[in-house]
Amino acid sequence: MNKEELQEKIPEKEKKGEWKARLEKKEQSAEVTSFLSSLWDDIRIFEDDIRGSEAHVIMLKEAGILTEEEASKILRELENALNDWKKDKLKIDESLEDIHPVVEKYVVERLGVETGGKMHTGRSRNDQVMTDVRMYIRREIIALTRQIRHLIKVQISLAENHIETVMPGYTHLQQAQITTFAHFLLSYADSLLRDIERLENLYERVNKSPLGACALAGTSFEISRQRTAELLGFEGIIENSIDATTTRDFAIETIAVLAIHQTNLSRIAEDLILWSTTEFGFLEIPDEYCSISSVMPQKKNPDSLELIRGRTSKVLGALTYILTMVKGLPSGYNRDLQETKSPLWNAIDTVKSSTKMLSGLLKDIKIDKEAALKLVKKGYTTALDLAEKIVKETGISFREAHNIVGTTIKKLVVKKALLNEEAFNDLKEAWREILGEETPINLPALKDCFDPLKSINERKSLGSPNPTMLKETIKERKKTLENIKTRNKNRETRIKESEKMLEEIIQDLLKKHKNGLFKWSKK
Ligand code: ARG
Repeated sequence: MNKEELQEKIPEKEKKGEWKARLEKKEQSAEVTSFLSSLWDDIRIFEDDIRGSEAHVIMLKEAGILTEEEASKILRELENALNDWKKDKLKIDESLEDIHPVVEKYVVERLGVETGGKMHTGRSRNDQVMTDVRMYIRREIIALTRQIRHLIKVQISLAENHIETVMPGYTHLQQAQITTFAHFLLSYADSLLRDIERLENLYERVNKSPLGACALAGTSFEISRQRTAELLGFEGIIENSIDATTTRDFAIETIAVLAIHQTNLSRIAEDLILWSTTEFGFLEIPDEYCSISSVMPQKKNPDSLELIRGRTSKVLGALTYILTMVKGLPSGYNRDLQETKSPLWNAIDTVKSSTKMLSGLLKDIKIDKEAALKLVKKGYTTALDLAEKIVKETGISFREAHNIVGTTIKKLVVKKALLNEEAFNDLKEAWREILGEETPINLPALKDCFDPLKSINERKSLGSPNPTMLKETIKERKKTLENIKTRNKNRETRIKESEKMLEEIIQDLLKKHKNGLFKWSKK
């Protein structure tokens, strides 16, 4: 039988790249195919799949597994596929299971199976899909780090204007101690800085190449896994091939880090929602982030913040989804693993849009300083400052001072009076009741405790809202943000450099083999 006769015998579909030789019945109902499909989840990794294949083909050529001619032909078709994709000219055949055969079919249809069919030598879809996903996630980590950095910048510049904007701080949602709006904003900033720290840490574990692990246990071809890793800008490889194709720990960790970040956003959203109510009444959310009621004309609802809070459940759900997906699986690829992509995408989309939303909203937020001050004065929030002052002035124990001030407040509450200079008489009375003697201090010594701002200036402990300290904190955090910016840029540059290296190698090969004019497809 000659080659042509042999070709005749191969069913039409197989010639095009669907290798189902193992199966007697090669046709599949659309229903089954669609059930098996990850095509629509794979749209996001199309470009990564192309780049991954290009790096693989270059490596195969360098290892002498493909000839230069073969490699350059395949590379040309991969580039054509990408260009067609970008121009919306690449039709996705929905009878295929995922994006990998879509790309392979494109190449095989144009080059024939003799050449195009060599692209998949020494790799499998199992290492391929993980390569793509890792490439995708690392870009998203860089993008999200940038977004969070921006949000922190907004918080810090807002804090600069509110170093002395006093407001109540709450525990158990009851007024606790006076603090400032800047103090709150900087507390948010610090929690978000830890989110960035986690993302940076995560990046190192994500940025490792599984490519060349093949289906599970490697290949007899003498491939170079380090070379494909280098060409794709990975820092090293996931060495053990079972591990490389099985593990989804990096994806789980990504969602976990995102979930922590989103719960931080949710808490910020909840604070802002509360403070914008008539009951708290010292914060105004910019109109464009609010909705109205279809029936109650007076309403202005903080919907953007509510959705940041509400969509947190989606991210937490994604974390549960992916963890339960993998918990019972044996080692090696199982099709269940295909389902780890959608929770990732979901979490990434939710977190990115929420982070962006909060940055925009915070920028134009308005604080009613008078209303905040009024609340502070109503709420006995300098009681602790007063007790501490008494200890310092008289040397009685803190517990005794706590009792005296507590008794004083009890009297004020009954009279519906405030904790101000006029309360000094009640304090004297309480002193007599608790310690059975006259107060040894006079009003002038305690006066500052009745002034909210002076009270705050008295706070000496590190991390307190003391305005002088907060100014220092702001300076330090700005430096931290600059360092984050540099590190993030470096990560991006390393990816770009690898893309450039890939581009140059391909250009050279194509020129050498006169494969026609070809334009590198830019991102
Ligand atoms: N669509 C699959 C996924 O997303 C690709 C890997 C398929 N591998 C396999 N052996 N069926 O996970």
